[in-house]
Amino acid sequence: FINVHASAKAGSAAVVESRESDSLSRIKSLSQVSGVLGSQWGDEGKGKLVDILANNFDIVARCQGGANAGHMVYNSEGKKFSLHLVPSGILNEETVCVIGNGVVVHLPGLFQEIDGLESDGVSCQGRILVSDRAHLLFDFHQEVDGLREIELAESVIGTTKRGIGPAYSSKVIRNGIRVSDLRHMDTFPEKLDALLSDAASRFEGFKYSPEMLRDQVEQYKRFAERLEPLITDTVHFMNDAIYRKKKILVEGGQATMLDVDFGTYPYVTSSNPSAGGICAGLGIAPRAIGDLIGVVKAYTTRVGSGPFPTEHLGESGDLLRTVEHEFGTTTGRPRRCGWLDIVALKYCCQINGFSSLNLTKLDVLSGLPEIQLGISYKQVDGTPLQSFPADLHVLEQIKVDYEVMPGWQCDISSIREYSELPKAAHRYVESIEELVGVPIHYIGIGPGRDALIYK
Ligand code: GTP
Repeated sequence: FINVHASAKAGSAAVVESRESDSLSRIKSLSQVSGVLGSQWGDEGKGKLVDILANNFDIVARCQGGANAGHMVYNSEGKKFSLHLVPSGILNEETVCVIGNGVVVHLPGLFQEIDGLESDGVSCQGRILVSDRAHLLFDFHQEVDGLREIELAESVIGTTKRGIGPAYSSKVIRNGIRVSDLRHMDTFPEKLDALLSDAASRFEGFKYSPEMLRDQVEQYKRFAERLEPLITDTVHFMNDAIYRKKKILVEGGQATMLDVDFGTYPYVTSSNPSAGGICAGLGIAPRAIGDLIGVVKAYTTRVGSGPFPTEHLGESGDLLRTVEHEFGTTTGRPRRCGWLDIVALKYCCQINGFSSLNLTKLDVLSGLPEIQLGISYKQVDGTPLQSFPADLHVLEQIKVDYEVMPGWQCDISSIREYSELPKAAHRYVESIEELVGVPIHYIGIGPGRDALIYK
């Protein structure tokens, strides 16, 4: 009996070991420059994959967005960290984290995040580099974000009110202030005055006074000193790292369906969270980029307003929301829920050229009697649509055709081998792969670092 028991134990240890070596070799085989991008409307669970992969990358870089990204990651002891501007690679001691030129940086928020990490025992010293070309996001940008939403009233975009849109507006109309401007405190007050006066002339509710300018300048003098050691020519840093064969992981914030060009405009974010944003937001060449992993929830959620073809307002929408407590990491706003939208996912796969997918939160679907997949769109007159339409009027009226498949009734959160998932889960996963034509290499079955199946 003892021998049988010992050999069974040794056998299961061997299985764990071989599973670990399989997953490691999959991660190690990723290209020198790889990326993790959202392929729905955000909150797909990108942070967890980035955090898992980061162990095997020298650098983790953010290329767009700002503190509107809300990655939630857990360290190996199960402690929860909510990251907004700092790349998720920060939990891995060896990883250098880059905030690229395409990111808009709110310094009070960044320092608060760094202080929080440090007090939780995560050393950030010398591990965070901020691009000298990145634009600064000021508190007034956040105020303007709120004022603009009030102005839009009925047609409110549903932004996170983090000032992201107004900061990108300053960048594009070319009166923005960049990180490198903090090195010239003599001209800084003049630039900030121009920005604040502009906001005051545009929004009646925006109160601007000379005292406000003076306080802000004093505050930014202190910030400039603190930021100085982090300020880096990240374009040079990234290209030099590529030349020196360093492994780089790009961490996308938000997702393609929120892309300012490809998303459901105007209900989008103000940057390009799709593949093109990597080149523009880090200054690296397209040919340097290799594997891009699309992160997709096993169902769909969306925060804020805008079209959502597979939304289920009825029983199942409520059910998913209840099961998962779907609230945004950054905003705490409830998420709208619905079935997985294959048409939108195919569109994202085309735009980004994903080499593989990470299907997340498959565990959330456990217990549903049946699961639906939105597989095609029809216009009101019954004409099939070949692709994801740009026109919001069309989108609002489309009819979605669903494939209905059986669900599974057991808890799958402790399964670690693909072969051990219930048949119905296999059918669901493989149908998605077949319909979009991209392999699913990673399956999330829980929020923890270890809750991942390598397929
Ligand atoms: P944005 O950049 O803001 O779009 O966020 P994100 O894509 O990084 O999403 P985030 O990391 O905030 O993940 C959302 C939530 O999902 C977090 O609470 C994660 O811990 C959780 N999560 C991630 N993967 C899984 C999974 O496979 N199953 C379950 N149940 N939860 C998961």
